[in-house]
Amino acid sequence: MKIIRDEANGEAVRINMRKPYDMHQHLRRDAMLKLVAPMVARRFAGAVIMPNTVPPITTAEMAWRYQEEIAEAWDLNIGSFEPLMTLYLTDMLEPREVALRFAKRTAVGVKYYPRGLTTGSDSGVKDPASLWTKGTKPYEVLRALAEQNKVLLLHAADGLDTYGDELDPYEQEKHFIENTLPYIIDAHPTLKISVEHLSTKEGAEFVGKYGGKRLGCSLTAHHLMIDRRDVFRGGFHPHMHWWPIIQPQEHKEALRDLAREGPPFVWLGSDSAPHPIGKKETRCCIGGVLTAHAGIEFYTDVFEEIGILDKLEQFSSVNGPSFFGIEPSKEQITLVREEWKIEKPFFVAKLGTPLSKTEEVIPFRLGETVRWKLL
Ligand code: DOR
Ligand code: ZN
Repeated sequence: MKIIRDEANGEAVRINMRKPYDMHQHLRRDAMLKLVAPMVARRFAGAVIMPNTVPPITTAEMAWRYQEEIAEAWDLNIGSFEPLMTLYLTDMLEPREVALRFAKRTAVGVKYYPRGLTTGSDSGVKDPASLWTKGTKPYEVLRALAEQNKVLLLHAADGLDTYGDELDPYEQEKHFIENTLPYIIDAHPTLKISVEHLSTKEGAEFVGKYGGKRLGCSLTAHHLMIDRRDVFRGGFHPHMHWWPIIQPQEHKEALRDLAREGPPFVWLGSDSAPHPIGKKETRCCIGGVLTAHAGIEFYTDVFEEIGILDKLEQFSSVNGPSFFGIEPSKEQITLVREEWKIEKPFFVAKLGTPLSKTEEVIPFRLGETVRWKLL
């Protein structure tokens, strides 16, 4: 990595680094895939593709077909791009889908969704105890995963407390970290586990303490950039609503501290999750927002803000792929210190039909300025 600084004031003005990997990306399908794939492929050498599509990716066969769809959706002139596929862990997922049919290098893991707790989680696991209870299908899937040295990706949230009462959304991750994760680790000591989009100080403490070759986490740019004050300033901002929910300031600070420490088991996972405006500005606002339009730039901005620009390459381009058993990219990207404005919404265009307002996609930070620009 090379950072060039202004001779007069010492400010960073240009960065050359290895092309990053996005370890958590919702590419979707059809028109949305066509919109998002080029944004991602321009910035990232590869990405771990989330399986909560409609319908969800629940067989190896579906994963390969989806991989082909993705390959058709980006312009090859942008450069090579490696979609790293995941399977959706359901109560019915057959262990053999992993044991026998998931051996490809670009099949990297299985994603756990707690049923009903996030967008696209209706097919998720009903009872988290099945992850550590012998004889259940999820338990056997995790054993097969460990044998293959592939990764369990966790949406780390519980819906119920130990008495069976419904948890407050701000407590869901903390409860999972303290009451569920330790059981999974104990039951599957050789399994590689990634806590996705870490959002709490309890999560940061746990991963900071026990992280290593078998346990790590991804951090999103938005959980590093904003806290609950931003979400409610002047009213509720639906385009800052995501799962896991944006926590109060002290949690953002704990995530920033973890990024500052810069351990090898902490990496970039954007969780870019686009939805048309019709699903955001409505009676029940769906969780998830597009960040792929500035997928590396947002991280660059916040890493500069918190004084760790020198750690950007390790975090973005090396730690994630290394944990997942993928060679970091040999390609380079260049970022320059040049402000640009996120000016317009995007459209998920259906060919041949007139654009309708409900097909607008409002990107994160619309109307605001980004400090760094990808060349
Ligand atoms: O806010 C979210 N949106 N969180 C998730 O876990 C899923 C994602 C989506 O698919 O829209
Ligand atoms: Zn996600």
